[in-house]
Amino acid sequence: MENVQKVAELIEKRVIAKKGGGEKRIDSQHAKGKYTARERIQMLLDEGSFEELDMFVTHRCTNFGLEKEKYLGDGVVTGHGTINGRVVFVFAQDFTVFGGSLSETMAQKICKVMDMAMKMGAPVIGINDSGGARIQEGSNSLAGYAEIFERNILASGVIPQISAIFGPCAGGAVYSPALTDFILMTEQNSYMFVTGPKVVKSVTHEDISTEDLGGAKMHSSKSGVAQFSVEDEQAGISLIRDLISYLPQNNMEEAPVIECHDPIDRMEDSLNEIVPDNPNKPYDMKQIINGIVDNGEFLEVHANYARNIIVGFARFNGVSTGIIANQPSILAGVLDCDASRKAARFVRFCDAFNIPILTLVDVPGFLPGSGQEYAGIIVHGAKLMFAYGEATVPKVTVTIRKSYGGSHIVMSCKQLRGDFNYAWPTAEIAVMGASGAIEVLEGRALKGIEDPEEKAKFIEEKEAEYKKKFANPYQAASMGYIDDVIEPRNTRFRVIRAFQALQTKRVTNPLKKHSNIPL
Ligand code: HXC
Repeated sequence: MENVQKVAELIEKRVIAKKGGGEKRIDSQHAKGKYTARERIQMLLDEGSFEELDMFVTHRCTNFGLEKEKYLGDGVVTGHGTINGRVVFVFAQDFTVFGGSLSETMAQKICKVMDMAMKMGAPVIGINDSGGARIQEGSNSLAGYAEIFERNILASGVIPQISAIFGPCAGGAVYSPALTDFILMTEQNSYMFVTGPKVVKSVTHEDISTEDLGGAKMHSSKSGVAQFSVEDEQAGISLIRDLISYLPQNNMEEAPVIECHDPIDRMEDSLNEIVPDNPNKPYDMKQIINGIVDNGEFLEVHANYARNIIVGFARFNGVSTGIIANQPSILAGVLDCDASRKAARFVRFCDAFNIPILTLVDVPGFLPGSGQEYAGIIVHGAKLMFAYGEATVPKVTVTIRKSYGGSHIVMSCKQLRGDFNYAWPTAEIAVMGASGAIEVLEGRALKGIEDPEEKAKFIEEKEAEYKKKFANPYQAASMGYIDDVIEPRNTRFRVIRAFQALQTKRVTNPLKKHSNIPL
């Protein structure tokens, strides 16, 4: 063959490879409102930056006549490119080739980019759209999954791993995304479950739709499996690009600092009046967050799950920061099992990737009751405490209003190595709220008072006495547990100053194989 022909052959092979499973299957993918693997990668990466690898890999299976059906690249498109100029490694399962099902060779392709991402210290983004294990390959496919899972595990805490679910993701296949840092699902076409509706029906007789069993809405609000639910693939891809901008390339680096045009000493006057006089009245913590971060930009994570706590990324003076904040407008901001788990995982992500943490506190306590106790609130609360207490990144805490009992300790208090602990004048730091405290402290005296009016007056007086002592930040500040009481409208400036002072913070934990966080 002449050299010119050789080049022509290469070009032809590339054209064939790019067609995946063929025009018909591409059309069918589009008809479902889905993009193809290559289209997705193209949208995700900076224009022209994608370098594809292993385009000529084909499967090696000879069962069920499969040797007669081969597609260049097999069922996944892999390679690297950039997002806003920063390198990322990607793989996108190609549903047009055997339904994106995982073969031995496909697993090898995915493992190759994961290994490269680890070697180079760059994030991995996986786009999942697959019928699961390639049935014809039997245990070779299962072994391939296990190879991927092991890499997910070893990469955890070293490089950011993001999973987009843009189609089916069922059976054991769900465990690769589950081992990564963030899962994003689309409201249509995307589902994840260990066993599908048909198996559920045959085993438990439960009738349930695909959507209710494993759709984006369910996973982003009920199970908490997905951190993000988006309307469509385009929205999902733009969210991934945004998310990546808050993250470092790996655990040895810091997140990129973006030039900040929002004045660091910007006063937010509205904050002086945001907390209602009545301590039982809610307000929206997101208004405080939006008021203090750069340009009011906040990327909320797990927005629809355990909404009584808010977690997400923002910037202070251009520096990426993780925010954890109780939300008094949902269940009074109480800590329950789900909120504790959600916040704990976020704290650990930030700590693993050198992202400083700001904690905004307004928490009445842990949610009481048998439901929570049976669900293991003790362990889940301990998880959050563990995460905060172990974290060595800069930690700034601002107590806005309530901070009672165990929940005060959990929410990044001074003794859990909070670096700067500030409070607004509206803060109340105590073992418990006034009414609960008086019931305990004055129980015997109250029993002796028959007249209801006299009883009410007694309670009122005692509560007033208690509030005078504890419904403020000054008792804690007098002990040095609160470093300063700050004017609410000046919070942005004080937080930025605190983080600036913490830039060179170095704290290490005792040497160990690993901790034993209460899981
Ligand atoms: C081989 C598969 C496949 C699979 C789909 N295909 N899944 N080939 N192995 N697992 C092929 C189909 O034969 C078809 O080929 C093409 O992909 C598209 O599939 P359709 O069924 O036509 O598409 P659709 O109607 O959209 O349905 C998609 C689907 C369905 C819901 C994913 O294909 C399905 O139920 N597949 C099987 C899912 C499954 O049970 N997988 C194993 C799960 S257990 P043609 O040639 O017609 O285009 C598992 C264990 C993992 O994964 C363990 C890890 C530890």
